[in-house]
Amino acid sequence: MLLVSSLLLLVTFPTVLAQLPLPNPPYTPPPPDQGTHPSNASTPNSQWSTLLGNLLYFYDEQRSGKLPSNERVSWRNDSALDDGSDVGLDLSGGYYDAGDYVKYTFPLSFTLMSICWGALDAGQGYEAANQTAYLDDMLRWGLDWLIKAHPSPNTLFVQVGDGNLDNAYWGGDRSIPAPRPSYQINNTSPGTDAAAQASAAFAACLSLYSNRTLSASSSPLTMANNSYASTLRSHARDLYTFATNATGGMQTYQTAVPQSADAYASSGYSDELAIAALFLALTDSGVNASTYYSDAVRWYFSGNLEQQLVAGDETVFNWDSKTPGIAVLAAQLAAANPDLVSGSNTTLKVWQSAVEGYFDAIVNGTGRSYLTQGGLLIFPGDSDEASLNPALNVAMLMTRYASANLTSSQAAQARYLDFAQRQLDYALGKNPMSVPRPRH
Ligand SMILES: *[C@@H]1O[C@H](CO)[C@@H](O)[C@H](O)[C@H]1NC(C)=O
Ligand SMILES: *[C@@H]1O[C@H](CO)[C@@H](O)[C@H](O)[C@H]1NC(C)=O
Ligand SMILES: *[C@@H]1O[C@H](CO)[C@@H](O)[C@H](O)[C@H]1NC(C)=O
Ligand SMILES: *[C@@H]1O[C@H](CO)[C@@H](O)[C@H](O)[C@H]1NC(C)=O
Ligand SMILES: *[C@@H]1O[C@H](CO)[C@@H](O)[C@H](O)[C@H]1NC(C)=O
Ligand SMILES: *[C@@H]1O[C@H](CO)[C@@H](O)[C@H](O)[C@H]1NC(C)=O
Ligand SMILES: *[C@@H]1O[C@H](CO)[C@@H](O)[C@H](O)[C@H]1NC(C)=O
Ligand SMILES: *[C@@H]1O[C@H](CO)[C@@H](O)[C@H](O)[C@H]1NC(C)=O
Ligand SMILES: *[C@@H]1O[C@H](CO)[C@@H](O)[C@H](O)[C@H]1NC(C)=O
Ligand SMILES: *[C@@H]1O[C@H](CO)[C@@H](O)[C@H](O)[C@H]1NC(C)=O
Ligand SMILES: *[C@@H]1O[C@H](CO)[C@@H](O)[C@H](O)[C@H]1NC(C)=O
Repeated sequence: MLLVSSLLLLVTFPTVLAQLPLPNPPYTPPPPDQGTHPSNASTPNSQWSTLLGNLLYFYDEQRSGKLPSNERVSWRNDSALDDGSDVGLDLSGGYYDAGDYVKYTFPLSFTLMSICWGALDAGQGYEAANQTAYLDDMLRWGLDWLIKAHPSPNTLFVQVGDGNLDNAYWGGDRSIPAPRPSYQINNTSPGTDAAAQASAAFAACLSLYSNRTLSASSSPLTMANNSYASTLRSHARDLYTFATNATGGMQTYQTAVPQSADAYASSGYSDELAIAALFLALTDSGVNASTYYSDAVRWYFSGNLEQQLVAGDETVFNWDSKTPGIAVLAAQLAAANPDLVSGSNTTLKVWQSAVEGYFDAIVNGTGRSYLTQGGLLIFPGDSDEASLNPALNVAMLMTRYASANLTSSQAAQARYLDFAQRQLDYALGKNPMSVPRPRH
């Protein structure tokens, strides 16, 4: 029936196909068979470069504040320009959270850290897809806001907007409900996890703007900028000191700001401290780097994080839970900089065994996670609200670890790459419904 009526429409109005002049040459989606061409340095697989471009475009859609003249998303408007006025600051800008207009620093910092980490590993992909300028743009839109949200060493704004008020509103960006209060952590009411995670974001991105990579065999992105890197460095260091040395001690940030608990309550802070210390170790050298590394080892063991990686407990990698990423990043660091870890009791072998124990529990199905009949990895509880996120984050860590040749054997490398590829294939359409992003 549908087919018949659209055919009729075509027959009846053959000339009215488009109101605007069509681009010449026309844009066409990459042909499906491009999906089978492996990327190489001169010609990336065009399906992948389109996907990478779309992922960065998504962040343009999420922008808050005064939009730049080159904003790509025509249907977005300037919004929430008065953010911060309640505390005498300019806290406009940054990114809105998922389906609403609240700005949350804790998950934003995880996102920025993760994107910078990815670019440190695989930056050449952005270069090949001509996306490096958009990456820089996306990161600065977040980092520049995070800089504003950290106006003094021991103050970090962790939320702007009222979650209840905002979630009761379902509408466009021109009538976002007010008031939009600004919530902070500070020296007397600290938030160890939020401060450490923001430090990790600055430190990870600082490496990118300092022309670093995580492995000698990949070349850095063309994003080096010493003045920006030095700004990021001072925020990264100050936030780490704030996280570890606040006079109010250590506590999760929702203790100071209970308003954040509904949306993004944090389950602990040892993981954020450890991952911040690792990224700081990557950006520093000499004694400072060793001190950060031994701090990371201390947070990892004192927080009992190794327990979170064993079969049965195996935790996810997400905005709240960084532990699987800690072990992978530590292995990368230990391999890239053996001197750094040589004085420590925790060397590459320790991290390899933690990472591979975790991955094997998942791949072999000996832990709490399992595969659906269609092959999607499920972590009971964690996958309930976001079915692809835990699976794809594991796939991301496996790909990163295995393609950096960090595995203890070639067999392990092959099984992680294979498992990761299956999760990705599932998400992109190789599933019982043959559609991208099925719900289960
Ligand atoms: C790179 O990939 C393209 C498209 O698949 C192919 O035409 C080209 O020959 C490849 N170049 C090299 C150096 O392999
Ligand atoms: C990237 O830009 C170069 C130069 O403009 C062009 O030759 C190449 O096809 C572009 N690559 C992609 C994936 O768009
Ligand atoms: C932006 O403003 C235009 C008209 O001024 C409106 O049509 C559009 O819906 C707005 N965008 C959003 C996301 O609300
Ligand atoms: C410190 O943060 C707490 C919790 O957000 C807040 O109640 C208090 O007013 C802040 N202190 C100052 C000096 O702003
Ligand atoms: C970045 O590092 C690469 C080599 O790894 C070097 O060729 C390039 O000149 C460096 N860029 C800057 C701006 O330092
Ligand atoms: C480096 O970053 C600074 C600060 O954002 C900016 O003002 C400057 O234009 C950048 N320099 C280059 C060469 O991109
Ligand atoms: C925290 O304070 C201690 C004691 O003053 C000091 O030794 C340490 O360097 C501080 N930590 C950071 C990360 O600044
Ligand atoms: C080590 O860290 C301290 C405090 O963050 C800093 O003042 C100092 O310049 C760093 N040293 C080096 C060699 O970077
Ligand atoms: C290394 O030292 C830490 C204390 O910093 C300790 O908790 C941990 O058990 C030691 N790890 C190993 C593998 O010996
Ligand atoms: C997982 O399976 C592989 C073989 O497929 C085996 O080598 C490895 O030891 C197993 N690991 C665990 C923890 O069961
Ligand atoms: C991993 O090993 C392969 C084959 O030996 C090599 O081509 C590749 O460059 C290595 N990758 C890294 C990141 O070291």
